[in-house]
Amino acid sequence: MFSTKQLASFEHQETPFYYYDMSLLERTLDACSAAAEKRGFHVHYALKANFNDRILQLIQAKGFGADCVSGNEVKKSIETGFKADKITFAGVGKSDKEIRYALAHEIFAFNVESIEEMEVINALAGETGQIANVSLRINPNVDAQTHHYITTGLDENKFGIPNSELEKSAAILRESKHLNLVGLHFHIGSQIVDLNVFKSLCVKVNEWKNWFEERGTTIKVLNVGGGLGVDYKDPDGNPVTDFEAYFDIFDRFLERNSHQEVHFELGRALVAQCGSLLSRVLYTKSGIKKNFLILDAGMTELMRPALYQAYHKIERVGESDQEEINYDVVGPICESSDCFGKEVPLPVSKRGDLIAIRTAGAYGEVMSSHYNLREEIRYVYSDEIV
Ligand code: LLP
Repeated sequence: MFSTKQLASFEHQETPFYYYDMSLLERTLDACSAAAEKRGFHVHYALKANFNDRILQLIQAKGFGADCVSGNEVKKSIETGFKADKITFAGVGKSDKEIRYALAHEIFAFNVESIEEMEVINALAGETGQIANVSLRINPNVDAQTHHYITTGLDENKFGIPNSELEKSAAILRESKHLNLVGLHFHIGSQIVDLNVFKSLCVKVNEWKNWFEERGTTIKVLNVGGGLGVDYKDPDGNPVTDFEAYFDIFDRFLERNSHQEVHFELGRALVAQCGSLLSRVLYTKSGIKKNFLILDAGMTELMRPALYQAYHKIERVGESDQEEINYDVVGPICESSDCFGKEVPLPVSKRGDLIAIRTAGAYGEVMSSHYNLREEIRYVYSDEIV
């Protein structure tokens, strides 16, 4: 996966660092745009997956909108050049300061998640005589068949307006002078690989859209969220997710009329495969039953394995003629959960060997922390290697 030139440049890099393959990112973005544009679909990039500057700049340059979940993400997207009328602001707990900031920049819409939040946005928009566009986040009660920590569309989750309160929400919207309902918003979870799940989502979206239209409410935007998964097992075999198949599901199963727009909020599928976490072996250790590889990267640099027991492919970088043995690949952090993989087959390794943890472009760098007073994570872009 790495060229000789890249390997040579890694020799001088201080580890750990994120390595971003900018040409793979571009290919992924182009594949997504082509499949979406052909169907007239609009894609907002979910900044939460990765807000590294160059990554955002490329996504913005390719014409994507931005899906933000904090005032700082709204700020970052505006500073990066995303057009305000392509920025949405979601999240169950928007503060007054964040709402005011988004209002001042006249973003496209707020995805609202509770009646109380609608009342606050209405009041704050009233202070400046504005009318805020809102999309109602509806919890469709569809099981995303993914890890329970990243499932969001079930009745038991904290997200969205409960179905029992939709009647009341519609009435409040009609009365609120400073709110304008533009759309309905759904998001059922992340890392969804079974496309049938999206078919079930379409059925629910159709039902709720009809429910509103039967009550005389026009719905301009159907925002179906994100959640499209990637292949963590075989990043080289499937570097670009099948956007054609994904958008085709919505094209076939979502009922929409000519004035309705379909919006998506994709994060992981756009950025996961372009990123790898590069780390060096600090020490090797043989336990009674185990062999350990202790890396200079830990859960502070990539938290997903510790937090969700997430699988990431772990590879030795460069050639090795050593036989393979199984290692538990761990980090230096003082927590037993600081483990990237158990019983991972790798060539017999030694101090200084370079290891790549793949498919780390989404929810990797952005979730890094200073726990144990670790250093700021570094990153290297493929096209800046000399
Ligand atoms: N829209 C909403 C409302 C969301 O909550 C999310 C992700 C997205 C869009 C983007 O989803 P994506 O296309 O990336 O699946 N940290 C976890 C993932 C958390 C996802 C949170 N919401 C992980 O590392 O797997």
